Amino acid sequence: MYQLLRPLLFSLPAESSHHLSLQALKLSHKLGLTGKPQALPGKPVTVMGLEFPNPVGLAAGLDKNGEYIDALATLGFGFVEIGTITPRPQPGNPVPRLFRLPEAQAIINRMGFNNHGLDYLLGQLEKARFQRDHRGILGINIGKNFDTPVARAADDYVAGLQRVYTHASYITLNISSPNTPGLRDLQYGEELRALLTALKQEQARLTDRQGRYVPLAVKVAPDLESHDIAGMAQVLLETGIDGLIATNTTLDKTAVAHLSHGQEQGGLSGQPLTTRATAIIRAFHAELGNAIPIIGVGGILNAQDARDKLDAGASLVQLYSGLVYQGPGLVRACVQALR
Ligand SMILES: Cc1cc2nc3c(=O)[nH]c(=O)nc-3n(C[C@H](O)[C@H](O)[C@H](O)COP(=O)(O)O)c2cc1C
Repeated sequence: MYQLLRPLLFSLPAESSHHLSLQALKLSHKLGLTGKPQALPGKPVTVMGLEFPNPVGLAAGLDKNGEYIDALATLGFGFVEIGTITPRPQPGNPVPRLFRLPEAQAIINRMGFNNHGLDYLLGQLEKARFQRDHRGILGINIGKNFDTPVARAADDYVAGLQRVYTHASYITLNISSPNTPGLRDLQYGEELRALLTALKQEQARLTDRQGRYVPLAVKVAPDLESHDIAGMAQVLLETGIDGLIATNTTLDKTAVAHLSHGQEQGGLSGQPLTTRATAIIRAFHAELGNAIPIIGVGGILNAQDARDKLDAGASLVQLYSGLVYQGPGLVRACVQALR
């Protein structure tokens, strides 16, 4: 079915086709044409203290505002991550800001955390049944507003943590989007330590108050040197972070520079990211051992790519660009291959 629809979707501007696909999926779900918002049966895995029915998840950024949770869950994911959400709504960068590079099965985006903010997201979560009725695992990915100074970033992450805590199975701290100036600086040294310490304290306070421990995962960029990785791993271990998501999009566009749109500003995802993301996973795994589980993401276009992420040390995987190029059948292919 997706192979039939793909030419139509690819004839539209990328962002229009994104909205159209999600609306169509939601409508099909409402009309009862899709299955239930339930995971495909696969190999269950326990990660961060949570039991995942299968190890294949949806990566952040496809459903930033939590508007399509149930519809997306009908595709069979073992978990769904929504966001990035910022405390206040913000429009993101001017369009066009999303570009397909079909020759390379790649995407460049500079969306810039366009989202409706925490209040709106919480409204959407009230309506979603995936978690409440189907015990689905929902990750909520939080970030900082564009106009919050980096020095005050912790305020935005703490606000996000407090508001989404009761609704999330796990919470992702996105400090690796390349489209919010200064955000990636939070990945290093004292900035990282200060941010994670503040968030672990808030997590402990919320756990006490609400009687439920919600794990915190940190999402990192693929554009890291080995000494960066060693330093970051040290801080993750010292602060007791519960999980690592590797990786976000890359700023290195040399592999696509010759293609149409290959020189657009923004982060590159999809097939040109596959090998690099896997190498980053392997490097972090060497530092972290089994102390902190890794969720592997970046250029999974087929089942073998997913297997490679697990072989490099990931416990779970997530997909985004692969869904655009291969369609929803990729979820089943990966779930089956990882059984
Ligand atoms: C259009 C687009 C928007 C994205 N938005 C977010 C986001 O809001 N937060 C985030 O953590 N990652 C975001 N990502 C990154 C993906 O979650 C993923 O880490 C990255 O695309 C690599 O995986 P892939 O090659 O399977 O796409 C976005 C990716 C794309 C293509």
